[in-house]
Amino acid sequence: MKRVITYGTFDLLHYGHINLLKRAKEQGDYLIVGLSTDEFNKDKKNKVCYFDYEQRKHLLEAIRYVDLVIPEESWEQKRSDVHEFKIDTFVIGNDWEGHFDFLKEEGCEVVYLDRTPDISTTKIKNELEHQ
Ligand code: CTP
Repeated sequence: MKRVITYGTFDLLHYGHINLLKRAKEQGDYLIVGLSTDEFNKDKKNKVCYFDYEQRKHLLEAIRYVDLVIPEESWEQKRSDVHEFKIDTFVIGNDWEGHFDFLKEEGCEVVYLDRTPDISTTKIKNELEHQ
């Protein structure tokens, strides 16, 4: 069984997220999502979420492509997650192109997928704010 992992915040879940998760699942058989915790978002990614961690987790767990949601609490955990969860393939959108190539050293394939154009959590928030 080929095991795939991806990471992200997935706030205000939108069709760009679904496209990413669908294509991530197509890379293998079992998809794990490392979901950024509220603390990690605030302290390290400078993001304040509309939905809290448990709400975002609940939404992701309802998606057919997602098999397991784990907390993402640090930048460094990716190396150990790859071993702990026996990951074959790491997948993320190409806004992160090149950032996680070091995972190849851990024996893991690294795939950057094209982002879906014209949609993001930030765009939704900005457009609602200016309506
Ligand atoms: N993603 C994507 N296409 C989009 C938006 C996001 O493929 N249009 C991917 C990202 O590349 C990442 C995952 O979805 O692999 C989670 O992204 P996240 O940062 O949570 O979503 P964004 O909508 O980009 O959020 P923000 O605007 O806060 O950066």
